[in-house]
Amino acid sequence: MLVLESLQVMKYIIDIIAGARPNFMKIAPIIHELNRVRDNGSSLAYRLIHTGQHYDTAMSGRFFEQLGIPDPDVNLGVGSGTQAEQTGNIMIAYERQVAIQRPNLCLVVGDVNSTMACAITAKKLGIPVAHVEAGIRSGDWSMPEEVNRVVTDSIADWFFTTSESATLNLRQQGVQVEAIFFVGNTMIDTLVANQRRLVPAACVSELGLSARRYFVLTMHRPANVDSFDMLAKFLRTIDSSSAGLPVVFPVHPRTAKILRDCSLRFDNIQMVEPLGYLEFLHLVRESVGVITDSGGLSEETTVLGVPCLTLRNTTERPETVTIGTNRLIGSDHVALADSMGQIVQGKWKIGSVPPLWDGQCAHRIIAAIESIADTRR
Ligand code: UD1
Repeated sequence: MLVLESLQVMKYIIDIIAGARPNFMKIAPIIHELNRVRDNGSSLAYRLIHTGQHYDTAMSGRFFEQLGIPDPDVNLGVGSGTQAEQTGNIMIAYERQVAIQRPNLCLVVGDVNSTMACAITAKKLGIPVAHVEAGIRSGDWSMPEEVNRVVTDSIADWFFTTSESATLNLRQQGVQVEAIFFVGNTMIDTLVANQRRLVPAACVSELGLSARRYFVLTMHRPANVDSFDMLAKFLRTIDSSSAGLPVVFPVHPRTAKILRDCSLRFDNIQMVEPLGYLEFLHLVRESVGVITDSGGLSEETTVLGVPCLTLRNTTERPETVTIGTNRLIGSDHVALADSMGQIVQGKWKIGSVPPLWDGQCAHRIIAAIESIADTRR
């Protein structure tokens, strides 16, 4: 009994926070690595907290299933709301969980509302915070994600970065070099691990798609989709610039709400339901090019060598442009049409893969946390 109790005391418990779709690809390799080191006798243990920011099977459950993520230990079930409602509800619910079981470390990933909300809650309770994908900056304060990044990084204790430029941003913010670990990209760990498991979505046969003979489109940023006129203008340009190739558009619930009652009709754009991870990455890998306002997708296209057009003026992931296959289009419709034409003609830059985006990031993160845990015991 005594032995058991002292073993319990020696455990170093990490709360892993996940809330929205892009978080799930980032936590999966961390959890797999934690399970591996636990099986080898490590004292690291974790509790998986799902905030419930995303709750549909298509936005959440399917990713857990496909990526082999265990069921969350706790689901805070907060659901949707305004920025403040969602953030506040996550903070209140997570604080209650910490009162039930206090972790040694709170690990947050990415830049969604769940990331910031749980980081603030933990920090105020005196629990150290580790941020995976720390230090990236767009400088665009109209994006809720930029606020989430800056707030999280201003209070975190440990920083795991995807690039040297992210490390530099943190150094310029005054973060001590010892607190920063340049480890690579966990989202790319998931891509590397699942490359051979990717499967065609049903829409591939339903729409008769052939490899390199279609585009993929995703749009969900409030700045692009919350105004119907702006969204419609983008869609019209894309529809008329694909040289007759289909443009497959898995529609995010936020965008679907805006498009639901409209009478827009397209020659080439084909709207489909949001896809699972394995189907979506297959669709992207086989496409001629991707048009998106997502940041994470520009990282995946960079690694897959697929041309990418980003419908934003800025990116917090500059290496996707300087090293990878990404080009920033903003809302320049002439550049959008020209770039789609160049992609169809096969005239696109050949990118390469940024340093440490090699599938081993989670291994480096957990090795660093082992050393942090050792010094804290
Ligand atoms: C959130 C993240 C964004 C991320 C995106 C990926 C923030 C500030 N934004 O944006 O960084 O790129 O997730 O998807 O955290 N909805 C559903 N079912 C769901 C989830 C949402 O129908 O499972 C609907 C809700 O009605 C909600 C809307 O989609 O109002 C938007 O969801 P929300 O979590 O507010 O933000 P996202 O736009 O998804």
